[in-house]
Amino acid sequence: MFDILLVATLLVAVVTGFLPPNQFTLRHRVVIPNSKVRSPVADDQCAQIIVIGKIILDKYGDPDTHDHGDISIGGGGPQSAWGACAALGARDMLGWNDDDEEQRMLTDDTASPPKQNVTFVAPIGLKNWTPEMTISLNSLLPMLKTPPKLVTSLEHMTPTIHIWHDTNETVNWTPMDESFGEQGADGLWRLNLLDDILDEIENHYENNIVLHAILQCGHEPTGNGLDALPLFNSSLMERVSAASIEPILFPDEAGVISHDDRSETRAFFERVVDYTSDLCESNQTNKLVLVSPDRPCYDALCSSTESSSNVMQHIEFAVRDGSNGSIIDHGSTIIPPATLKTIDGKPVNPTGAGNAYAGAYAACRGTGSSMEEAACIANAVGAVVCEYENLPPWTWEVLERVVEAACEVRSKIDIKCSGR
Ligand SMILES: *[C@@H]1O[C@H](CO)[C@@H](O)[C@H](O)[C@H]1NC(C)=O
Ligand SMILES: *[C@@H]1O[C@H](CO)[C@@H](O)[C@H](O)[C@H]1NC(C)=O
Ligand SMILES: *[C@@H]1O[C@H](CO)[C@@H](O)[C@H](O)[C@H]1NC(C)=O
Ligand SMILES: *[C@@H]1O[C@H](CO)[C@@H](O)[C@H](O)[C@H]1NC(C)=O
Ligand SMILES: *[C@@H]1O[C@H](CO)[C@@H](O)[C@H](O)[C@H]1NC(C)=O
Repeated sequence: MFDILLVATLLVAVVTGFLPPNQFTLRHRVVIPNSKVRSPVADDQCAQIIVIGKIILDKYGDPDTHDHGDISIGGGGPQSAWGACAALGARDMLGWNDDDEEQRMLTDDTASPPKQNVTFVAPIGLKNWTPEMTISLNSLLPMLKTPPKLVTSLEHMTPTIHIWHDTNETVNWTPMDESFGEQGADGLWRLNLLDDILDEIENHYENNIVLHAILQCGHEPTGNGLDALPLFNSSLMERVSAASIEPILFPDEAGVISHDDRSETRAFFERVVDYTSDLCESNQTNKLVLVSPDRPCYDALCSSTESSSNVMQHIEFAVRDGSNGSIIDHGSTIIPPATLKTIDGKPVNPTGAGNAYAGAYAACRGTGSSMEEAACIANAVGAVVCEYENLPPWTWEVLERVVEAACEVRSKIDIKCSGR
């Protein structure tokens, strides 16, 4: 019902020539009837987005009180790749580049939304991986131009966890067996993915690659920090115009991020910033460094009393604040959340919303969106992920829902500003 209303509103707005309240930036024009896709511009103008993430096998259910559910493909990687694609797809529906006007393309509502230039690279351990898992991973991400690039190891297992939500909707998980030991994540996440990543970008000639990586951070991270290697390889980084990191950092039992974790994470960001600024200087280019921590991680980084370096100033943070929305522009701008369109207004399954947010923000921001536009769309993508039990399907309906949520977020910002 609501969707029909929305479509009607869009059509009326198109007829009258403008579309409040979703004028994001000058970059985008209003939605044109029946033309949901920005036409393919010359290939060399297209950025390529690389998402590096982890795959974890999820066995859903509380290990103490529930029967164990089926194993499904989880982990932040697929969620981030989905988020990047959904954000780009929704952004294309929101508008057109002014210069693309002559290249409009009419699309068929019955077809799936177009594929996206997003490459997903992840390590898997073959000890417990089955061909069916590859098929089910591919079916979660049907919109990738090339199927996920799986870097395999015969000696390791793909980490497997029990995952469940408690009554407060907090995501809980515990690893199975040796999933995070040397046989599992700790060994597997040391795999060098660089050859495979460089293969994937071989035919992309522009230096406008957007690299988004989910990285284990802190003191003694799983995989010994080697998952960050791509960020320090000049053959790759010379080609990258925006490098984005989703840091994974867990609080201790008391809910506090330890002093060691905090200072190791800061030191790591410092190395990233130093490395990229050196490259920028010798190559006379500019690179965006984006970081999308969750709120506890960001607060810990900010609260540091250590000799304050200016590293934080060189990083653009997009802070994920759960049901509060997100915070951009060095903590100065709060981007409100989208209202969930579920029966009780609560998430059906919030797992992965943060990963999807981070992928969405990186994809949009790395390809020309303003911070605010990127965050509105990313909040919307995160909300829509919460509305589905698993990753949402790749359909026009889902993308329209992302557009609707992004417009809602945008309109809340306008109300807040005019109310001041
Ligand atoms: C849910 O939150 C309440 C209030 O913060 C807390 O007392 C309770 O222990 C939490 N329940 C679980 C299962 O964590
Ligand atoms: C980057 O990684 C590739 C692939 O592992 C390697 O061949 C190359 O030497 C590395 N480049 C630099 C500058 O370290
Ligand atoms: C997609 O990425 C490939 C590989 O880098 C590149 O050659 C191509 O130009 C891009 N095309 C589009 C339509 O985005
Ligand atoms: C960029 O900088 C690196 C490291 O200093 C250097 O090896 C490389 O040749 C430079 N590339 C360009 C295109 O200037
Ligand atoms: C929302 O923000 C408040 C105040 O900063 C904080 O206490 C609360 O934990 C946040 N909620 C979530 C879900 O993160």
